[in-house]
Amino acid sequence: MDNLQNFRRTHYCGDLRPAQAGETISVCGWVQRQRDKGALIFVDLRDRTGILQLTFDDGTAPEVFEKAKSLRSEYVVAATGLLKEREAKTDKIPTGGVELYVKELRLLAKAETPPFAIEEDSQVNDMLRLKYRYLDLRRPDLQRTIAIRHKVSKICRDYFDENGFLEIETPMLTKSTPEGARDYLVPSRVHPGKFYALPQSPQQYKQLLMLSGFDRYFQIVRCFRDEDLRADRQPEFTQIDLEMSFVNEDDVMSIQEGFLQRVFKEVLDVDVQTPFQRLPWREAMDRFGSDKPDLRFGFELQDISDLVKDCGFQVFSGPVAAGGTVRLINVNGHAADFPRKKIDKLAEFVKTYKAKGLAWARLHNGEMTSSYAKFLTEEENKAILERASAKDGDLVLICGDPKEEVVFAALGALRCEVAKQLNLLKKDDYKFLWVTQFPMFEFSEEENRYVAMHHPFTAPMDEDFDKLESDKKNCRAKAYDIVLNGTELGGGSIRISVPEVQQAMFRALGFTEEDAQARFGHLINAFKFGAPPHGGLAYGLDRLVMLMTGADSIRDVIAFPKVQNASEPMTRCPDTVDQKQLDELSIAVTNPEEA
Ligand code: AMO
Repeated sequence: MDNLQNFRRTHYCGDLRPAQAGETISVCGWVQRQRDKGALIFVDLRDRTGILQLTFDDGTAPEVFEKAKSLRSEYVVAATGLLKEREAKTDKIPTGGVELYVKELRLLAKAETPPFAIEEDSQVNDMLRLKYRYLDLRRPDLQRTIAIRHKVSKICRDYFDENGFLEIETPMLTKSTPEGARDYLVPSRVHPGKFYALPQSPQQYKQLLMLSGFDRYFQIVRCFRDEDLRADRQPEFTQIDLEMSFVNEDDVMSIQEGFLQRVFKEVLDVDVQTPFQRLPWREAMDRFGSDKPDLRFGFELQDISDLVKDCGFQVFSGPVAAGGTVRLINVNGHAADFPRKKIDKLAEFVKTYKAKGLAWARLHNGEMTSSYAKFLTEEENKAILERASAKDGDLVLICGDPKEEVVFAALGALRCEVAKQLNLLKKDDYKFLWVTQFPMFEFSEEENRYVAMHHPFTAPMDEDFDKLESDKKNCRAKAYDIVLNGTELGGGSIRISVPEVQQAMFRALGFTEEDAQARFGHLINAFKFGAPPHGGLAYGLDRLVMLMTGADSIRDVIAFPKVQNASEPMTRCPDTVDQKQLDELSIAVTNPEEA
């Protein structure tokens, strides 16, 4: 094997152009492929910037030619030679105008045949890709994504620095304060039976930093949540976290808009218009059935409960009588795209959101076919179509349920599903939105009590302050989410900075004074020492990069992600540990997973 003594790389492969023809160039990288044409050998050499063709011909020294003959895919080589303009140019690759006539070739490492081809967009089984993630990461699309991720982080640091923010690190070993997702726990050796928790977010620390006078804080920070994985959720993920003092919602939002505008311009050359649209939570639910609506298409929800409450069709009148709602969406102009069979599939689709079914009316070629019309009077049918602004060519889809949440979830997801089937989800169409005025509380069926919808440090809206303890259902918060194309990018709020209000909030959540002291005493006590009004927000960096790169999952924008069951196929963690380690930590495993 050769080495790199006296070798200096002069260029990256992907950067070379005809303008550099005539220069002596040194490059290194991996063999993408070798084509042996007898008297002529071509080697595509790949580094993280792209591919360059190395050429070996009858002008090549025989020992160099022999070495070129022995090259196989993924061998690591260094080459020096004369860059020439190609006679037969190709525009398939950016360096298609040049080739390197190699004078000196060094073989630095051989490689076994990789378990899959290292190429753009390779269609390989996910588990295999993740088992060999270091090879998967060699693929150009992942190289690009990881570079974009770096660029987003860099712009983030620049932007917040320029706007007076300080990046301050907060602890990874923290106190468990369960509210929200499950914690990842770390046992303490020094304190047998006691545990640290890995942070779900730096929320409490960043609030304490405001109390310490740091005024504007940000951090690109790893967070940990033991929750079920989805395409936009990983057990460890990265937040762009920030907090500001002496601000209201508008101040926090406008600084964010500036950041997003800059990052989209610098990374994608996309001009984002600010200020972003704002929708109060209730309006978002009423119009889109979702607190993270995708605004790239219409099909908004319409309430028809008032029109059907007294009708003879139990499927409609029943839910209204039970205190629920009946709503519709008009897939306007697309009746022709949804023949009966496809509508039946949509009915199955809404059932996955606990809806009992889907009623429909299809207005096609001047005729209406419908699953429900025959059960209603002419006036009732007319009124529904009028409310839907339905005309020929439209498809009206109706869902009712005694539980408003079920209708919202079903129709909210249905409008996205229909848009997906109609190919309306353009990845390069970026529709930003703030959802504001979230409810303070949501009812947890599991815990049979109200829990904080955002977190327990979020301030109530001034006009709803009195409802904090007396009318939890209707108490709204100074909380806001930033939404992009149906994904929650980030969330934040103005915080409670008055100790009495924080105590009232803990009471509202059902904590006794002792409970609250035991869990959050450090924060309650700190706030007695002069807390400035403050608020902030955190983005999911992974989600931001996912949307900017058009990836389908945040897994594709994380170098070493976890899979569905929160394990990592490459290192095979989590794993058992030695009995000695367990003993040191005073831990007994009572119910081990089968190996
Ligand atoms: P929140 O819990 O809304 O707020 O989280 C903020 C953002 O973090 C991202 N995120 C995730 N990304 C990937 N995988 C996950 N499991 C995951 N969980 C959350 C989302 C989300 O919008 N401390 C507050 C913020 C604040 O009030 O300032 C917080 O963590 O993009």
